[in-house]
Amino acid sequence: MDTIKIRTPDDWHLHLRSGEFLAAVLPFTIRCFQRAIVMPNLKPPVAAVASAETYYQNIKSLLPAGSIFEPLMTLYLTPETTPELIAAAAAHPHIYGVKLYPAGATTNSDYGVGSLKSLDDIFAAMQEHDLVLQVHGEDNKAHTDPFDREAVFIEEQLLPLRQKFPDLRIVLEHATTTSAVDFVNAWPRTAATVTPQHLLLNRGALFAGGLRPHHYCLPVLKREEHRKALLQAVTTPGQSSFFLGTDSAPHPTGCKHSACGCAGIFSAHAAIELYAEAFDSVAALDQLETFSSLNGPAFYGLPVNSGSITLKRESWTVPVSYPFGSESLVPLRADEQVHWRIVG
Ligand code: NCD
Ligand code: ZN
Repeated sequence: MDTIKIRTPDDWHLHLRSGEFLAAVLPFTIRCFQRAIVMPNLKPPVAAVASAETYYQNIKSLLPAGSIFEPLMTLYLTPETTPELIAAAAAHPHIYGVKLYPAGATTNSDYGVGSLKSLDDIFAAMQEHDLVLQVHGEDNKAHTDPFDREAVFIEEQLLPLRQKFPDLRIVLEHATTTSAVDFVNAWPRTAATVTPQHLLLNRGALFAGGLRPHHYCLPVLKREEHRKALLQAVTTPGQSSFFLGTDSAPHPTGCKHSACGCAGIFSAHAAIELYAEAFDSVAALDQLETFSSLNGPAFYGLPVNSGSITLKRESWTVPVSYPFGSESLVPLRADEQVHWRIVG
């Protein structure tokens, strides 16, 4: 198969940032995705309905004339979130979920929550109003090994939450391990997004010939056995619980080339193309549309997109960097080839 046509895909986990950074990265996403779940980890976080609406309008105002791109907004769950706020968010036409960040687990997560135990009234309200809970599933205890954070979180926090609120719709964001795959497959109303980097790279990519800051994201890349399990999960015919979420997370080059570099991989410039590579690597291109364009809308209760895109097997070289406001950013595969291209 050298050409593949799929229904227009959506990105169910995206960081668009704000201000000049937002203007710089938005064009990459709208070239192939029709909708995107926009993550709320700005500074300060998008924690109120009014801030989500302002952010929505902001994104909309930057779209070129005629664009039908639709940002799907999320609220940042903080210790100040109330059940009343959940009710208001569920009633809002542009808000599609609430994102849980364990405090300290990732970029701009300082406003997040310590333990889930004190949040039962919030989860009860989300379950009642059928608002999706999006989870950054990593344990935040300082002594937990970084490579075990997802498995520990699932075991200690997510499983009890899942059992206590059986009707709550939960997305385990950026799944990276066999533990995540097993958890998602075991439970109804439970899904996961999967990034291109976790399908294409294992943790060796962090150290290939030297330290590679542009392969550092959270959750961190895992062992090959986990990558293989993810690839199998997303390409299994009939699977409906895994869908596309790039976690494209741009940072200025200077923040990555640093003694304490920040976490996040920018992939929006080649997102669907990289997923095509991953599916192609196991001869499963026929499953790409289900993962990219069908499972996400089904889980979120939205219609599938009516348009389509066509991808062709054709190599192109990714630029060394892209402008990022007054700074620059280094994209995934910088100065290397991507083997699929959008042709229509
Ligand atoms: C994300 C970011 O930079 O906002 N970073 C990352 O490594 N994925 C935050 C996140 O999704 O964890
Ligand atoms: Zn993210």
